[in-house]
Amino acid sequence: MSSTSFQFTLHATDGAARTGEISMPRGTIATPAFMPVGTGGTVKAVYMDQVRGAGADIILGNTYHLMLRPGAERVARLGGLHEFARWPWPILTDSGGFQVMSLAQLRKLTEDGVTFRSHIDGSSWHMSPERSIEIQGLLDSDIQMQLDECVALPAKRQEIERAMELSLRWADRCKTAFGDQPGKAMFGIVQGGDDAELRIRSAQALKALELKGYAVGGLAVGEPQEVMLTMLEATCPELPHEKPRYLMGVGTPDDIVKSVARGIDMFDCVMPTRAGRHGLAYTRRGKINLRNARHADDPRPLDEESSCPAARDYSRAYLHHLIKSGEALGGMLLTWNNISYYQDLMRGLRGAIRESRFVDHAAAVTEGWARGDI
Ligand code: GUN
Repeated sequence: MSSTSFQFTLHATDGAARTGEISMPRGTIATPAFMPVGTGGTVKAVYMDQVRGAGADIILGNTYHLMLRPGAERVARLGGLHEFARWPWPILTDSGGFQVMSLAQLRKLTEDGVTFRSHIDGSSWHMSPERSIEIQGLLDSDIQMQLDECVALPAKRQEIERAMELSLRWADRCKTAFGDQPGKAMFGIVQGGDDAELRIRSAQALKALELKGYAVGGLAVGEPQEVMLTMLEATCPELPHEKPRYLMGVGTPDDIVKSVARGIDMFDCVMPTRAGRHGLAYTRRGKINLRNARHADDPRPLDEESSCPAARDYSRAYLHHLIKSGEALGGMLLTWNNISYYQDLMRGLRGAIRESRFVDHAAAVTEGWARGDI
C-alpha cells in the first residue's frame, strides 16, 4: 500500500541484513532494493514497461545530466520527470556533486557550491546545495539527495576530512532548502573515504539532523572490496535502525549480497545496463560474454529458468550474432536480461531474510556463480 507520507517499515532482520518497505505516494519500494539507473530520463536501451515488469519499484535519475539537458525548468513545464519519462512510480535523484566531479570540466569548489563547465558544450554552471534541491524539486523527484563532495581514493586523510565536513555543512543547508514535504524525502550522504573514524563522525552528525534516510557515499571509488565492507561495518551501526540506508553506486552482485549482509537497504549501479550494452549477460551462473566466439553455434538460452523472456526465448548464438553485428537489439535484450537478473537477485535476498535463511541463501548464490556457466 502506498501512503500520503514517506514511511519506512522493517518487516524482518536476519543478522545485520534487513527487509522491509518504503511507502510513499507514488508507490511502495520493497527493500533491499536495486534501482536501475535512468541518468537522463531513460534507463538506456529498455522500455519503462520492461523495467517495471522486471520488478523495479524505483529508478534513479541524475540532477547533473538533466539540468544540462533538457533543463530542469523545461522538465517542470512538461509535467515533471515522471510524466516526461513515462515512469509514474518513485524516482530517486542524485544531487549532482558526484557527477560534477567525475564528468564536468574546470570545476571550482567553494563553501557556497561548485562551478563547472558542461561536458556537453562547455557552458558554465553553478550548483549550490540550495540549487541542487531546487532542481530535484523541479524534476519532482521523490527521494532527493544532499549535495556532497566525494573524493577519489586513495586520498590524504586531511583531504577526506575536509570533504566530509563540507558535505556535513551542505547536508544542513539541503535540509533547510528541502523543508517539510511529507510525501518525499531528502537523504544525507555519509562521507569519510577509507577512514572508519571519519565515517563514524559523519554518520553521527547526519543522524543528529534527523533526516528521513541515509546514504553511504564515497565507496566503490577505487578501493578494494574489503575496504568498502570494513567501512560499512563501521558506518551502519551508527545510523538509525528505523531509517533506510542506501549504498551509492554499488555494485556487482557479490558487492550487493555482502553489503546487504552488513545492513544496506538500497543500491544503484550502471553495471547491469552498461554491461548489457557491451555484450555481457548476468546469470545465476555468473557473467557470460556474448562477444566470445564459443557462443556462435550455441542453441541454448541464457537461462531457461529466468523470469525474463530475453533469457529464455533467444539462443546464445542469436545474441552473439546481434552483439557481433552491432545490432541495437543485442544491447536491448542483454540489458533486459541484466535488469531482470538484478531484480531477481534482490527478490531472492528479501525472501531469504524474511525466512531467516540469509546466510545459506547468500552461500547458494555465491556457489551458483562459482559453478560457472556450463
Ligand atoms: N554515487 C556514487 N557515489 C556517490 C557519492 O559519494 N555521492 C553522490 N552524490 N553520488 C554518488
